[in-house]
Amino acid sequence: MVVIKIGGEVIDSVNEFEKFKEIFLFYKPSLVVFGGGVQINEKLESSQIPFQFYKGERITTPEMIEIISSEFEKIAEEIKKRLEPEEVIFLRGEEIFLASQKSKKLGLVGRVADVKKEKIFKELEKGKSLLLSPLGSDTEGRIYNINADISACGLAIAIKAEKLIFVTRVEGVYCNGNLLKELKCDEVDILIEKGIISEGMIPKVRAGLDALQSGVKEVFIGKTEIIQ
Ligand SMILES: Nc1ncnc2c1ncn2[C@@H]1O[C@H](COP(=O)(O)OP(=O)(O)OP(=O)(O)O)[C@@H](O)[C@H]1O
Ligand SMILES: [Mg+2]
Repeated sequence: MVVIKIGGEVIDSVNEFEKFKEIFLFYKPSLVVFGGGVQINEKLESSQIPFQFYKGERITTPEMIEIISSEFEKIAEEIKKRLEPEEVIFLRGEEIFLASQKSKKLGLVGRVADVKKEKIFKELEKGKSLLLSPLGSDTEGRIYNINADISACGLAIAIKAEKLIFVTRVEGVYCNGNLLKELKCDEVDILIEKGIISEGMIPKVRAGLDALQSGVKEVFIGKTEIIQ
């Protein structure tokens, strides 16, 4: 099984969505986790709610959780419509990801504490692909915002996925204008420290590394995976 993560900007672009769709059709049935960075930014801006990121993750307040949840519902509908609606089952992340607070500083940002695998496998029996939003809930029912790359990583590890594909707006990880063909584990922290890897690429490369160190055999970051 393959886990594919699709970023918010890819959803917004007709051309880039088509590339994602090719990957989706090649691997189906698969597990798809979606993000919505740009969509949520726009919604918060129009609602005049200030926001900030810390190392690529959105500091999240209870007020934002409401907005984020409702944006994810809309995005899920949109993605389903543009794939094959009858081939995709949407599962709210909070029904699948058990979350715990990552740090006080980040507010309602969660980490994946556990994944309800039985639910996933039960749905997969239907032979369809699953679409998941990046939200989690704790044992008291509190909802957390989990960065979509981190959600996808948690999912890939839990279901022992063979491959984790991050479909994003850029071709991959750049270093001084060059696209890196491969990223070595010990390079990552140095590139982050130097500011070469920044913003949303920080949780993405960390999630990719985490997945590789936890049994996922292959991780890809880019617009179009080179299918061999
Ligand atoms: N070294 C780097 N190489 C490539 N992109 C980088 C690098 N450092 C920072 N970035 C930024 O990281 C962004 C990707 O992360 P971002 O969170 O914005 O997108 P996403 O994860 O695909 O979408 P979403 O957050 O909606 O799920 C790139 O568009 C780029 O602006
Ligand atoms: Mg991101």
